[in-house]
Amino acid sequence: MDTPVMTNAAREALIKRYGAKATPSIGAWNETIALLLAHRSIRAYRPDPLPAGTLEALAAAAQSAATSSNMQMWSMIAVTDSATKAKIATASQNQKHIEQCPLFLVFVADCSRNRRLGDAAGTELASLDYLESFLVASIDAALAAQNAVIAAESLGLSTVYIGALRNQPLVIADLLGLPKGAIGVFGLCVGYADAKAVNEVKPRLPQEAVLFHGRYGVTDETGLIADYDQDMGAFSKRHEMSDDTWSGRVLNRLSNPANLNGRDRLSTILHEMGFKLK
Ligand SMILES: Cc1cc2nc3c(=O)[nH]c(=O)nc-3n(C[C@H](O)[C@H](O)[C@H](O)COP(=O)(O)O)c2cc1C
Repeated sequence: MDTPVMTNAAREALIKRYGAKATPSIGAWNETIALLLAHRSIRAYRPDPLPAGTLEALAAAAQSAATSSNMQMWSMIAVTDSATKAKIATASQNQKHIEQCPLFLVFVADCSRNRRLGDAAGTELASLDYLESFLVASIDAALAAQNAVIAAESLGLSTVYIGALRNQPLVIADLLGLPKGAIGVFGLCVGYADAKAVNEVKPRLPQEAVLFHGRYGVTDETGLIADYDQDMGAFSKRHEMSDDTWSGRVLNRLSNPANLNGRDRLSTILHEMGFKLK
């Protein structure tokens, strides 16, 4: 196969994403792909409010995502009130960007709306009690959120997801008045980046480690990860004042359930919140 000809803009973006040694050859480039490759999470925000109608634009982008069987089993709660954001931050490992950002979105895996639909119709929706429905709702919420992220970035806004919202799901549910069968699966800070906090693009694993052809399989995974550890180690030194490698962080994160910060209890809590997960 011919090697595709790449523009300088494409090559530069790929070097930022994969490092110079692991740059793949891509044969397509446009401003959408450029925007996607330039993504980075931002953890410090200016207090400036968003222009009128921005929230509705983000919601329209989110609702335009594909959704399983068009069941639309997700909802989104826009939080702008400082006191509520402060309480959410307290329940989410005190992440200061939750309080700083002018708009905090809570993405909800929401089986409750369709449950109400069933109740109104007098139809028992037995399938909602299966793990599959929770998975559908969570996938729907994630796809919608990522559309909102791309829309926000296209408008010059920045974002960071907040998975720590799942540390104390019952506290969040209480704060936001969530009904049974609805859980905040993650949050999203949206706002204008504080210029001092704008990082470089964070490198990703080389494509050979995640892109397989026809069948799962990777040659020299150890070597690929060792190279990535070097790149990520250098990135961490430059931006996070730590020399942790990617492997080190993954091993630390996944070796001890205490590092889940309360999320080790999630299956019990989900039951309490009305998800039967059969
Ligand atoms: C579902 C999800 C939850 C996340 N939760 C947090 C979080 O609680 N706090 C945080 O600072 N970053 C969080 N992140 C951001 C990731 O750390 C970030 O995306 C990752 O390090 C890659 O960096 P990048 O987005 O700048 O490329 C989360 C990302 C995802 C997708």
